[in-house]
Amino acid sequence: MRRPAVGLVLVALLATLLSVPAPAVATRTHEVSYDRYSLSVDGERVLLWSGEFHYFRLPSQRLWRDVLEKIRAAGFTGVSLYVNWGYHSPAPGEYDFTGVRDVDALLDLTEELGLYAVVRPGPYINAEVSGGGFPAWLKQVPGRARSSDPGYTRAYREWLARINPIIARHQVTRGGSVIAYNVENEYAANTDATYMRDLYDTARAAGIDVPITHNQCCDASWTPTWASGPGAVDIPGVDDYPQSFECQTPDVWGPWGPGLTERLSDHAPVYAAEYQAGAIDLNRAGYDRCRELTGPAYLRYFTKSNLIASGATMFGFYMAFGGTNWGWLGQPNDVYTSYDYGAAITESRQLTDKYAEFKRQGYFVRAVEPLTRTDPVAAPASDNPAVGTLARANPDTGTQFVLVRHSDPASTTDDVSTLDWSTPDGRYRVPVRVDGRDAKILVAGYDLGGQRLVWSSSEIMTHERIAGRDVAVLHGRAGESGSTVLRYATRPSVRVLAGDVRTSWHDGDLRLDYTHSGLARVLVSGGGRPPLTLLVGTEQTSAEFWRLDTEAGPVLVRGTALARDARVSGQTLHLRADTAEPGEVEVFAPARRLVVGGEPVRVRSTASGSLSGRLAGPDPVDLPRLTGWRHRAGSPETAPDFDDSAWTVADHTTSTSPVPPVTLPVLFAGDYGFDHGHVWYRGHFTATGTETAVNLNAITGKNGVYQVWLDGRYLGRAAGGTQADSDAPVNPAPGPGTFPLTGLRAGQPAVLSVLVENLGHNDDWTAEDMRFKQPRGLVGAALAGSDAALTWRIQGADRHATDPVRGPLNTGGLYGERAGWHLPGGGGPGWGAPRDPGPGVSWYRTTFRLDLPRDQDVPVALRFTGTGPYRAQLYLNGWNLGRYTADLGPQHDFVLPAGPLREHGPNTLAIAVVALDESTWDAPELAVLANHRIVPPPIGRLPK
Ligand code: GAL
Repeated sequence: MRRPAVGLVLVALLATLLSVPAPAVATRTHEVSYDRYSLSVDGERVLLWSGEFHYFRLPSQRLWRDVLEKIRAAGFTGVSLYVNWGYHSPAPGEYDFTGVRDVDALLDLTEELGLYAVVRPGPYINAEVSGGGFPAWLKQVPGRARSSDPGYTRAYREWLARINPIIARHQVTRGGSVIAYNVENEYAANTDATYMRDLYDTARAAGIDVPITHNQCCDASWTPTWASGPGAVDIPGVDDYPQSFECQTPDVWGPWGPGLTERLSDHAPVYAAEYQAGAIDLNRAGYDRCRELTGPAYLRYFTKSNLIASGATMFGFYMAFGGTNWGWLGQPNDVYTSYDYGAAITESRQLTDKYAEFKRQGYFVRAVEPLTRTDPVAAPASDNPAVGTLARANPDTGTQFVLVRHSDPASTTDDVSTLDWSTPDGRYRVPVRVDGRDAKILVAGYDLGGQRLVWSSSEIMTHERIAGRDVAVLHGRAGESGSTVLRYATRPSVRVLAGDVRTSWHDGDLRLDYTHSGLARVLVSGGGRPPLTLLVGTEQTSAEFWRLDTEAGPVLVRGTALARDARVSGQTLHLRADTAEPGEVEVFAPARRLVVGGEPVRVRSTASGSLSGRLAGPDPVDLPRLTGWRHRAGSPETAPDFDDSAWTVADHTTSTSPVPPVTLPVLFAGDYGFDHGHVWYRGHFTATGTETAVNLNAITGKNGVYQVWLDGRYLGRAAGGTQADSDAPVNPAPGPGTFPLTGLRAGQPAVLSVLVENLGHNDDWTAEDMRFKQPRGLVGAALAGSDAALTWRIQGADRHATDPVRGPLNTGGLYGERAGWHLPGGGGPGWGAPRDPGPGVSWYRTTFRLDLPRDQDVPVALRFTGTGPYRAQLYLNGWNLGRYTADLGPQHDFVLPAGPLREHGPNTLAIAVVALDESTWDAPELAVLANHRIVPPPIGRLPK
């Protein structure tokens, strides 16, 4: 694995501090190539094991580092990164790459951490973000999106002209981290090869010289695959979600197929571009159920089966960390605020049992290099038909990889079998066991460091040469027996330090037999090979190991909740590690002393060749209770005498939207430049006295509502219209609502006030404008029983005046948002004692101070428990961190990420409650989600 060019960073840093221009240093560049087996960097094969991470779902650069360090610590060699056009562009020609939108800083970080990056700038990304990543303003651009239409072409070229140079300068070929560039996303319906070709050519013209990839939806039955012909990419990949998104039934197994990545090209590696590693919560079952649906058993069975069945050497696991749909980032129909995704790392950045499974697999694929080049070979025969085998081998080394799992993928029985295994080192009868939904990759004929592994029925987690010894970690399921055979010229001496391990010697083979339990420790020396420390664990005990690179070679750490990085200086190992409780730490390192977080740790040398000591846990943490709430009424727009003279008059008679207006004038919010969040309308008329009702139509996205007042009197609410596409094209009167009008007298001026939610813009998965360009806001308005003329004014969030720090998706058009009530300085006069909310908008504000221990990481949430017909939009120090849907669930905890959350100082909370009826105010409280002692990160690079 490539290491970061630390020296160059220091030179640049020094130059900045001394205010002199950095000397022109030659950047170390690398060559990226590929063949049918794998990617290679400078001729060395690379197994790209990447986890998907969405920087736009974590508004905190500091926490990007935390999550990326956790991703790296799991053994991922890379990250897959969508770049979200709409997140950067509030209006045509307006782009922002600062702060939480700083893609340069993100790619600096991946480079610094030694992670490869597959960058996926779309232009279309899907990803359950509003508009699938398209900026809302694209809805007013004529010409079908995701086609070669000139209008769309101009727009996406504008985006690529901004983002491509950023990506280009971070390529591996220029000393950076970007190893591949993905165009488009699952481009399978209504395709246009000219468009694909242009994306490719535009990237090349911008200096992108790493391989260009595409992620095909689902399997090769989706055509085109972009593997050949016009618009073809270098490395075509496949997305696969075998476990579905039905989190409410987490025990159903593989309803969407076997999840085997197909080879799409003879000239490129097999690329599992998005391999399911979690799920969206389509049915609001809660993300814990999604984590169960895609839990360790799924990962074991499906990922290992895919590795051996497909020979894939490029992976993107979707998601490694999901994050948060903060602000109006989310797509309206399939997701809510949390995008936890049931991923290996939770939304509050905690490691799960899925993380442990990723670590076992990630360390394995990274350690065992022959996996980067394999062909299918005949598998050892199993003497029990219930147990199936499948095999690949490396043609250069002969190393064999045998997948052992139930022949019936859904089987949950406990079966044993004996394999008749012709290994490169002889023919053996190998006992194996498969208990339930398990799968193992067994290795034979492998040069494990300086040892020769003949075969093992335990799986390899990792092995390293440390201080002249081979240290290997193997594992198996607790209680299952295992055997490992190693070859030596002469009988070596064997010392069993821990565990019930029986040894035998026959004709050059040292055989170890044991039951997986706790952590067995065996020292082997002599026999013509370097000494070996063999550690054989269970699933649990093997997952306690962490592998870190240092300039003095790799080290292994056991026992901490996380090990982030290490440095060896002289005889001392400096470690950055997290603890969740006081406990033992053991390190296998070329060192005699241990320093953690600058503090020397008292250690003793163990017989295993390691150092052992104890680390402290975190101190308990208390959070303040939230008190001192103040209230302010938030819908002055309903008052008859409200001054709307500065609002935009809605008078358009035509629209670019393919969805026709129900009535004229056009009232579509986006057509007047109001793209995100709530929109207010005021419709004025002079009553005839004959009015019986007003008939309205509004489109909000799924579960959205709109509310109506006449002269300040609440008339009620209706459900807004939802997605229209080719499956449901006939949506002539979406979101209808009829509101009876009473008490109007002839000649009397009257005003209707309408508040419409906009939950985000539809995606464009099917590449048809009918769906993506479906408008938001009112789409029809007519008085019944009267021919009085209705004139409308509209007000929302101005796309040209978005928050320069928090970005274009942070706020909508509520009065309080327009007036800055959500901001830390937004208190002032007009606020009073808390009152229960009535229909419309009520704001609540309070402040609190935190002083969390500086060497502890304490993720904090805002916990809502109230029930009632309301939705609460929460702002922390002005950051719109989520939307509590008290009437729908399922989310009650809203993560307040450090960054927006000041961990040392004052914080302001503002909550805009949009009540659909009379409700009660249930104040939320702060909640501690986890507590770790950490070594604070080094100060990052100075901003450019
Ligand atoms: C894929 C898509 C991703 C995401 C995922 C579901 O089909 O490429 O962007 O939408 O589905 O979470």
